[in-house]
Amino acid sequence: MYYSTSTGNTETVAGYIAEYAGISDMEDIGDATDSDVTGSDGLIIGAPTWHTGADEQRSGTSWDDWLYDTLPNLDLTGKKVAIFGMGDQQSYGDNYCDAAGELYDLFTAKGAKVFGMTSQDGYDHTESKAVKDGKFCGLMCDEDNQYDMSDDRAKAWVAQLKDEGFM
Ligand SMILES: Cc1cc2nc3c(=O)[nH]c(=O)nc-3n(C[C@H](O)[C@H](O)[C@H](O)COP(=O)(O)O)c2cc1C
Repeated sequence: MYYSTSTGNTETVAGYIAEYAGISDMEDIGDATDSDVTGSDGLIIGAPTWHTGADEQRSGTSWDDWLYDTLPNLDLTGKKVAIFGMGDQQSYGDNYCDAAGELYDLFTAKGAKVFGMTSQDGYDHTESKAVKDGKFCGLMCDEDNQYDMSDDRAKAWVAQLKDEGFM
């Protein structure tokens, strides 16, 4: 599992996912080696959104450089990927979890196969670049407004990933 964070919320939810998935190795993407990434059977990746409205580099974390400097050099054809995003649907309802959509766009462009799409039910954003074909491209959490739902959402998402054969 690779994530990055500014104020710790993405790390909090990464911890929930790790617990339910039985994952012990979670790391900031800025510390990942290329071979760690390409050598994994599957990747769970998570990012917050900090750059409202931006087309690129929407997370404000080490993902921003990694996605444009490192990812282009990697072959991820057929790699199983599951995405989670962190955002604030009340204050940034026009750009809720946009950085998760950026992960989706760039990883799928490199050949990755995304698992764990979820329903938008239960959220009240207006727009999100994390929505692909009517669904969120992974698990979206909101530690600002719905922090008490993140644990259950993570649990259900890990169960879904197992059902889909991701793990
Ligand atoms: C300056 C600023 C800009 C933000 N922009 C967005 C945004 O565009 N979309 C969104 O969903 N959340 C936005 N947020 C909310 C953060 O994504 C949210 O608080 C998240 O939980 C932070 O995760 P982190 O603690 O892992 O960094 C923004 C927050 C700040 C302070």
